[in-house]
Amino acid sequence: MENKVKSLIEAAENAINSAVTNLKELDDVRVKFLGKKGEFTTLVKIMGELAAEEKPRIGKIINDARTQIKNLIDDKKAALKAQELQNKLASEKIDVTLPGRKIYRGHLHPLTLTLNRVKEIFIHMGYTVEEGPEVETDYFNFEALNLPKDHPARDMQDSFYITEEILMRTQTSPVQARTMQKNNANAPIRMIAPGRVYRRDDYDASHSPMFTQIEGLVIDEGITFADLKGTLDFFCKKIFGETAQIRLRPSFFPFTEPSTEVDVSCMMCHGKDEHCKVCHGSGWLEILGAGEVHPDVLAMSGYDPSKVSGFAFGMGIERIAMLTYGIDDLRLFFENDVRFLNQF
Ligand code: PHE
Repeated sequence: MENKVKSLIEAAENAINSAVTNLKELDDVRVKFLGKKGEFTTLVKIMGELAAEEKPRIGKIINDARTQIKNLIDDKKAALKAQELQNKLASEKIDVTLPGRKIYRGHLHPLTLTLNRVKEIFIHMGYTVEEGPEVETDYFNFEALNLPKDHPARDMQDSFYITEEILMRTQTSPVQARTMQKNNANAPIRMIAPGRVYRRDDYDASHSPMFTQIEGLVIDEGITFADLKGTLDFFCKKIFGETAQIRLRPSFFPFTEPSTEVDVSCMMCHGKDEHCKVCHGSGWLEILGAGEVHPDVLAMSGYDPSKVSGFAFGMGIERIAMLTYGIDDLRLFFENDVRFLNQF
């Protein structure tokens, strides 16, 4: 009997140490030896056949053996669990020093950057920013700006009409009339109005049927042409650099009188390169239209031209951006090739 117990312990030890590689197998061993129908149950049954005086001694041997095997199984269980954790840690290991996936950050479009710079300069001078609709009435886009129906100067801006009376605005100037009409009569105005405008133009390196303008309007008592000149000179020095100079040429706009076209000195060659790609040797670049607000325009929107006067100007943001960034094709702004956009 004693030998039987001994060999049983040995067999269990062997099974645990050699055969078992995971918890499931270990449990099979446990059932085989300690389970209800296991080896020990069989032993205990045989005990019935022993002599009465032998029973306590053999019983103790069997119990001790059972405890021994139970301890072996528990130790093995702990070892297997530890091993399992190690394996898991090893297989799920991540290298925190590896570089991460690159996150691409967006940024503002060059036209927005330019528009923001222009706005900032005027906001610093105390101008408000006004807005108007892109789908505009014929009245605000033309009539209130001294361009009655059939006025020949309407041909200067070939328009997209939606109905007889509604069109895509061809300029930001309608915001002048809208702002005057929303004000109390003769109240001073110092505003800019940025926005998109639409004309039936070709789409090429220097034209687009949609582009961006910024309008300016100042009205108060005693505003003169000298104020206009000083303001635009200041603006050009801020946006193109302190050495920039302006030159005024007589021009015509129905809503200003007198009217002028404003050139800025070429920031590429400063008038010194007769082959300059930007100014073609002239030394000057046309950048905006401007003038003293026509008395009829003031009167039509409820202002009294005998009491107040003003000036207005309008410029294309694409043109300013092309000049400041040295870009020679307008279409680049609208095609949004990221290789172009990433450069700003
Ligand atoms: N609206 C004019 C244009 O688009 C520009 C302009 C604005 C001229 C204000 C004079 C005064 O051509």
